[in-house]
Amino acid sequence: MLRAGVLTGGGDSPGINAALRSIVRFGFKQGVETIGFREGWRGPIDDLTVPLGVNDVSGILTIGGTILGSSRTNPFKIDGAVDKILATLAREKIDFLIAIGGDDTLGVAHRLAEHGVKAVGIPQTIDNDISMTDYSLGFASALEVITDALDRLHTTAFSHHRVLILEVMGRDAGWLSLMGGVAGGADVILIPEQDFDVDAVHRKILHRQARGKHFSIVIIAEGAKPTETNGQIVAEAEVDEFGHVRLGGVGQFLANQISQRLQMPVRVTNLAYLQRGGSPSPLDRILATRFGAAAIEFALTGQFDMMTAVHGMKIEPVPLGDALSNPRPVDAGLFYLLDLFE
Ligand code: F6P
Repeated sequence: MLRAGVLTGGGDSPGINAALRSIVRFGFKQGVETIGFREGWRGPIDDLTVPLGVNDVSGILTIGGTILGSSRTNPFKIDGAVDKILATLAREKIDFLIAIGGDDTLGVAHRLAEHGVKAVGIPQTIDNDISMTDYSLGFASALEVITDALDRLHTTAFSHHRVLILEVMGRDAGWLSLMGGVAGGADVILIPEQDFDVDAVHRKILHRQARGKHFSIVIIAEGAKPTETNGQIVAEAEVDEFGHVRLGGVGQFLANQISQRLQMPVRVTNLAYLQRGGSPSPLDRILATRFGAAAIEFALTGQFDMMTAVHGMKIEPVPLGDALSNPRPVDAGLFYLLDLFE
């Protein structure tokens, strides 16, 4: 029997557990035994393992987050960590690894290939910003939360004649803001790919008022850049092990500016971790199940240093190095959705 190790790293999202279940169950059918490493890359560094048999993954299809736990540990930033990983993999007799995560987690898997580690990656991030796949796990579920939030904001904005701003995640890519904004009928959609001008937002709101609409809903990605601030607005300047600052606050910045111009209060809702939690949507459960089985299949056919990707209805392998070379911004061909209506 072959032995697979699996780990989940980075910001979690709904659908990871469904992928774990698929890896374990399809792997078992194919003669692969799976063990889990806990807490992202910290697991193989410190040999933190959990057995992952078919019974251990029973009932987790519908559960958000990850039963393995997650971390933003970067072994390439910790002295001796890569050697510890190699030693753990040898000690645990791991034939191949499956890493589930965003560009940071999968980037480590790719770099470990140079050290002889056989790995397959599964793209998982609500931001949907991994290249060479149409969708990453978690995006569809987060979109449902955002759409529901916009629906709820609409009824109260309408009742109170208010401007309400919804800040959503999306560090470098505006998929959540754009697609959530379209699905939830936001009046102004702001994304990191296009710097925004507060006066232009103000003008849109005035234009709506002029045609009798006394409420407006703005959706803004945490990574959107106001032209005034010359860069993103950060909540904490301290960087994580992959060099990222924590973003947050651009919604409040915009609210203050618009409120001054309109001479009325503008309220902000930051959806924060609510959009990353909860049960996976049907589309994420299906994608996770297909990605999990594909990861086993790629490994059994010797396709390592690859990532599972979805292209239309097909699941295909793409080289991890290519997928991670650049984050995937919103396609310029979709920008027309930002200003589709007046
Ligand atoms: O996983 C990506 C992401 O959701 C980003 O949109 C966000 O900036 C980041 O995670 C925040 O994660 P945390 O606060 O858990 O580090």
